Amino acid sequence: MHEKKIELLQSKQEKAKLGGGENRIEKQHAKGKLTARERVHFLLDDGSFEEIGMLVMHRSTDFGMEKQQFLGDGVVTGYGTIDGRPVYVFAQDFTVFGGSLSETHAEKICKIMDLAMKNGIPVIGLNDSGGARIQEGVKSLGGYADIFYRNTLASGVIPQISAIMGPCAGGAVYSPAITDFILMVEDTSYMFVTGPNVVKTVTNEEVTSEELGGASAHSTKSGVTHLTAANDIDCIEKIKRLLSYMPQNCEEKPAKLAYDIKEEFREQLSGIVPESANQPYDMREVIEGIVDEDSFMEIHPDYAENIVVGFSRIAGRSVGIVANQPISMAGVLDVDSSKKGARFVRFCDCFNIPLLVLVDVPGFLPGTDQEWNAIITNGAKLLYAFSEATVPRITLITRKAYGGAYDVMNSKHIGADMNYAWPTAEIAVMGAKGASEIIFRKEIKAADDPEAKLKEKEAEYAEKFAHPYRAAARGFIDEVILPKDTRRKLIKSFAMLENKVDKLPKKKHGNIPM
Ligand code: HXC
Repeated sequence: MHEKKIELLQSKQEKAKLGGGENRIEKQHAKGKLTARERVHFLLDDGSFEEIGMLVMHRSTDFGMEKQQFLGDGVVTGYGTIDGRPVYVFAQDFTVFGGSLSETHAEKICKIMDLAMKNGIPVIGLNDSGGARIQEGVKSLGGYADIFYRNTLASGVIPQISAIMGPCAGGAVYSPAITDFILMVEDTSYMFVTGPNVVKTVTNEEVTSEELGGASAHSTKSGVTHLTAANDIDCIEKIKRLLSYMPQNCEEKPAKLAYDIKEEFREQLSGIVPESANQPYDMREVIEGIVDEDSFMEIHPDYAENIVVGFSRIAGRSVGIVANQPISMAGVLDVDSSKKGARFVRFCDCFNIPLLVLVDVPGFLPGTDQEWNAIITNGAKLLYAFSEATVPRITLITRKAYGGAYDVMNSKHIGADMNYAWPTAEIAVMGAKGASEIIFRKEIKAADDPEAKLKEKEAEYAEKFAHPYRAAARGFIDEVILPKDTRRKLIKSFAMLENKVDKLPKKKHGNIPM
């Protein structure tokens, strides 16, 4: 009798582990995808996974659903560790009703989210779902809303990471959209609110799933996804790395890795900024020159390339980096780069990750396209995000810091703690040429040789303003430093700011220009 009971449990467990069955598992593998359980296995430390709700079944009776039962109901949920750190995880099982979300499937996800919130532990969602379980109607829609609500309440309390590892249609996209980071697997995943058939019916556009919502579309055009991965394993490795920069929750600081400071001077930083102010250079070289070796993980690398954001470490400490990128549109701020930067700044501030801001910006991008797409509101997002960030904030101006963009890029005036400039910095309302053309227009026009006059006035303006010393004289720049000293200075100043406490005025919440 006793043995029979044990056998019953074991047979149920074995059955649950097969999800939708061998055939569907084969199909999943044939598409180059791992199963939900395989993904969890590779994500978590060996043997650390503890499953919750393995025997859950749906309660639907319409369309003969009571005869189609799969233990676990299309989602594997539970907890385990990544590099020894506890995480909660859910992995949708495409082999069971296409990973579609039923009432009970949603309840399983909500259960681990509630536990994650009470325990202050990150949640990782591995999404692979055909959206709402069509047979369940409004119960499924309600299940989605229950998840969205929890995602929203958890936002800023615990890190939430979403991997898109298969189709994510309809409701399946909105939970990831509320979470902090989205990763998509190339070729096997896509996200859209309505698929190609509906698009064709409504707008008469012919588009494939890949074109509409594949990893490439969302990493370059929409900016919905932050990272792409070549395959499931690559995606899982990227999740682990991403998580390593974050603390467990908003009350904690990120882990500080042991770091032996041996080489503080970085000579390679001296030769990066070119002689000519109009010549581009790759800001990633500056980042690499400053941070701990191989510690930089770029986020959103293919979207709004005129701004670079990413996580890194300086002497073992996590930092978030926001940097203008002179090799892309001269590093100008526009709608997309402002949104990209603002979202990243807010994430870092939520989770106590100090910010390093590298500035080489000619200003905001002019034009009807920008104005009509609300560069005013979107630029204000970045301004707002920096202004309300209370984490340690350090700025380094490498070259241009012109106009409103000087203010926006973590200037002293909006609360930065330490502001450095290299001797190559130019801090002014605008570039010498543009400025001279405006303020000396009459004089230039009246001159016998207007070209020569413009050059003369440009030189005059540049001598007055194209350097960091006026700003340093006012204390807007704390110190002008040599490139090769930069890493040493930043190590010391981030250490100096380690216990910074700064509070915002009491309020319910601010009203960021959305
Ligand atoms: C129930 C579903 C399902 C769903 C797929 N299946 N989607 N079952 N509800 N939403 C089942 C299929 O019947 C099939 O069952 C199995 O999953 C695999 O599906 P296939 O179509 O064979 O796979 P594939 O060719 O890879 O196509 C995958 C797919 C497609 C692109 C996801 O299935 C699809 O378009 N599904 C519907 C997507 C959709 O419109 N969802 C509703 C969105 S509305 P068998 O038994 O054959 O294995 C929504 C509203 C929420 O989500 C709004 C909240 C804000």
